[in-house]
Amino acid sequence: QRKPVGKLLLFGATGDLAQRMLLPSLYGLHADGLLPEGLTITGSARTDMDDAGYREFAKKALDEFLTEDRRDEGALASFLDRLFYQSVDLSNPDTFPALAEKLGDVSGGLAIYLSTAPSLFEAAITGLEQVGLAGETVRIGLEKPLGYDLASSQEINDAVAVAFPEDRTYRIDHYLGKETVQNILALRFGNSFFEPVWNARGIDNVQITIAETVGLEERAGYYETAGAMRDMVQNHILQLLALVAMEPPAKFDGNDVRDEKSKVFRSLRIMKPEEVPQNVVTGQYGDGAVKGEFVKSYADELGKPSSTETFVAIKAHIDNWRWQGVPFYLRTGKRMATRRSEIAIQFKAVPHSMFAGRGGLLQPNMLIIRLQPEEYVQLLVMAKEPGLDRDGVRLREVPLNLSMDAEFAGSRRRIAYERLLLDLIEGDQTLFVRRDEVEAQWRFIDAIRAGWVANDQKPKHYPSGSWGPSAAIGLTERGGVTWQDD
Ligand code: BG6
Repeated sequence: QRKPVGKLLLFGATGDLAQRMLLPSLYGLHADGLLPEGLTITGSARTDMDDAGYREFAKKALDEFLTEDRRDEGALASFLDRLFYQSVDLSNPDTFPALAEKLGDVSGGLAIYLSTAPSLFEAAITGLEQVGLAGETVRIGLEKPLGYDLASSQEINDAVAVAFPEDRTYRIDHYLGKETVQNILALRFGNSFFEPVWNARGIDNVQITIAETVGLEERAGYYETAGAMRDMVQNHILQLLALVAMEPPAKFDGNDVRDEKSKVFRSLRIMKPEEVPQNVVTGQYGDGAVKGEFVKSYADELGKPSSTETFVAIKAHIDNWRWQGVPFYLRTGKRMATRRSEIAIQFKAVPHSMFAGRGGLLQPNMLIIRLQPEEYVQLLVMAKEPGLDRDGVRLREVPLNLSMDAEFAGSRRRIAYERLLLDLIEGDQTLFVRRDEVEAQWRFIDAIRAGWVANDQKPKHYPSGSWGPSAAIGLTERGGVTWQDD
């Protein structure tokens, strides 16, 4: 049952995420008439500003980051009317009473979005609790990074849990807000023909790729403490893996979906240190060319040498009945050849080819779910090439295409945060990450990182604009598998 709140409080209201994503998303929801009537949005950050100042700030951000087709002067003006501002220094409890006063009565529900450094989470929670902003009508959304290993993530979760029980805590993984990511569930559980082959008998291997062309951007401070493993694998990649691998939930709701995902995370094979070098490849981009333009190496962008990984490829296993023996190849990297997020499911080869030796080399079927930049689902199947076949039948791999872009051309593509903000405001936890999920994810990650230390494994250099270090190719080739579409 959705229970909309009457107020939204945005910590980190002047930050990069707020400008690029949160304000445009809230505007989008407002313009479509989806925000609860009368919902106020109070921004908060350290900067001193009044309401008018924040409205000005928000307008500038929207001018810069709203796409042209979304601009509507009337909607813009009424959106800005919803905005208020109160400066708060999260590390200083004395600044909270003014915030409580500004928000006033929260008995009609308050949703708080904490988009700040996690080092401030604990202080923020204490401050909120002290001024009565953590009661039963208040829910809290937490933006990543939620720690940098299991211990620190537990610490954050414990600190939050003091004031906010799990059913009022919304951990954000913005990949879950993406339409195409949710579509994985529609494909798997809205159709009958995938399920009978969706297991170790039908599937040979699964490949999950999130390749980006961007580099460090302006985030050196954060990225140096994260690296590709914590920035992308711990959250986004593992969430995609769970959606591909989980058992069918009984219902599409917060408990059932998250129960099933959690079981997948708990079944992830935890690597022993000595298994890590064989199963995990790390890389760091050197200089090179991306889309025809010269780009600097990571170390040059950073201004010093570093052993932070900007690429990682993993051969993972899920130890349960469904997936016994099926490798899940995971990879993500910055400064790759193209921007592409994709899941490729390679099915088993036919048990016997009656075309063998007659020009009919059979490729195993492959299901490709392209998440971005394009959105499509493609099933690669073998078909007969037209001809008289006097030298034998010629077969060729051809795609069966479902283009989501074309099929749903009329519907607007929403920013992932629109969906997540609306769910936070209305109180639906299905697309948020539960504590047990995050902690199981960290267990898998921590074991790999411990292997790096034990084996003194350092990232290998790869040229910007490539598909990562060549060792990443070896990782799959050793198992007789080729990365899809390299
Ligand atoms: C973020 C990471 O969580 O996801 C970034 O911190 C990354 O490093 C981004 O660029 C990718 O998101 P998207 O939606 O552009 O694929």
